[in-house]
Amino acid sequence: MTSAGETEYEQRAERLRSELTAAVVRDERADGWRTAVEAVRRDRFTPGFYLPTEKPSPRGLTWWEPVTAELDPERWLTATYTNQTLVTQFDGDEPDWDKPEPRDGGNPTSSSTLPSLVVRMWEDADLAEGHDILEIGTGTGYSTALACERYGSDRITSLEVDNHRLEQAATTLYGLGYAPDLAVADGLYGYWPSAPFDRIVAACSVRTVPRVWIAQTRPGGGKILTTLGGWQFGFGRALLTVHDDGTASGPLLPGSVSFMLARPHQAPGFGNPTHWLSLLADTHPTTTGHTIDWRNGNGEGVLHTLPGPVDPADQPDHHGRRYALPDRHRHRLGGRAHP
Ligand SMILES: C[S@@+](CC[C@H](N)C(=O)[O-])C[C@H]1O[C@@H](n2cnc3c(N)ncnc32)[C@H](O)[C@@H]1O
Repeated sequence: MTSAGETEYEQRAERLRSELTAAVVRDERADGWRTAVEAVRRDRFTPGFYLPTEKPSPRGLTWWEPVTAELDPERWLTATYTNQTLVTQFDGDEPDWDKPEPRDGGNPTSSSTLPSLVVRMWEDADLAEGHDILEIGTGTGYSTALACERYGSDRITSLEVDNHRLEQAATTLYGLGYAPDLAVADGLYGYWPSAPFDRIVAACSVRTVPRVWIAQTRPGGGKILTTLGGWQFGFGRALLTVHDDGTASGPLLPGSVSFMLARPHQAPGFGNPTHWLSLLADTHPTTTGHTIDWRNGNGEGVLHTLPGPVDPADQPDHHGRRYALPDRHRHRLGGRAHP
């Protein structure tokens, strides 16, 4: 792009960002979020995504078209700054973004959530200055950037189960100067190295609230905001307050909000009925290894390998009990080492 072209692009992106902000943050009380949405460049977080066409595929499934700046710059930029969800991955497979193909159906497994819902989640989680915040489901990193912009990167930890997605989110976040702690990890285990948190906010839904989330939230007022989902597409949002005795309770929030299910909570494929019995044997929790590729805001890496099933009872609690894992299961790659 020539420098005149670049200036024109920047001006257009800025104008679209202002329009998006006006559409997304309507409440005068949400001034902090207005500033954040104005500031964060969603176009950097969504270099490629898929949009559904109105007409279904010949198989009767959703027909998804790839949208990138290379394929159609105008459509890409406009869609990026529209208040809509942008799907970035299907069935856990990262598309080939150099040559993205249209898709006939598929189960979206990662996306940039529609910005109004991102703001609503952060708002409903009742965040405040000084809170330590854990986000489950980094996705593109856009929601993470909004939280960093509003509350400061050093307060934010974000987990993503998919290494391709985290890699891209990390590159963009760090490239734009945001420096949250990021990890490729199954968020259903929370994140002990940075616990306890004042807030845990899940950008994927769960079938049951993991006990470790409660154990990793500050007792006496810490909160967990998550969408509860099921295999029949039922959804509700729970805002739980963690009490001093280690229990948690709270209301289901009004409205119907849906997030994709956390990957380990997704329905199994139908498969071949004759194989179902053999699959049952695999449900025995003997091989649920948990590997974390951890990075801090300076891009330093630490790898924690937790082989075998992780029993929440073995994890540190609010009274300072630390890892029950032997040292040999923690490998330092450089930078800061966690206890
Ligand atoms: C709706 S997207 C998140 C959108 C993101 N907040 C954004 O603004 O781009 C949900 C994300 O949760 C991730 N996810 C699913 N199960 C997870 C798990 N068990 N732990 C961590 N991340 C998970 C998915 O890979 C996906 O990227």
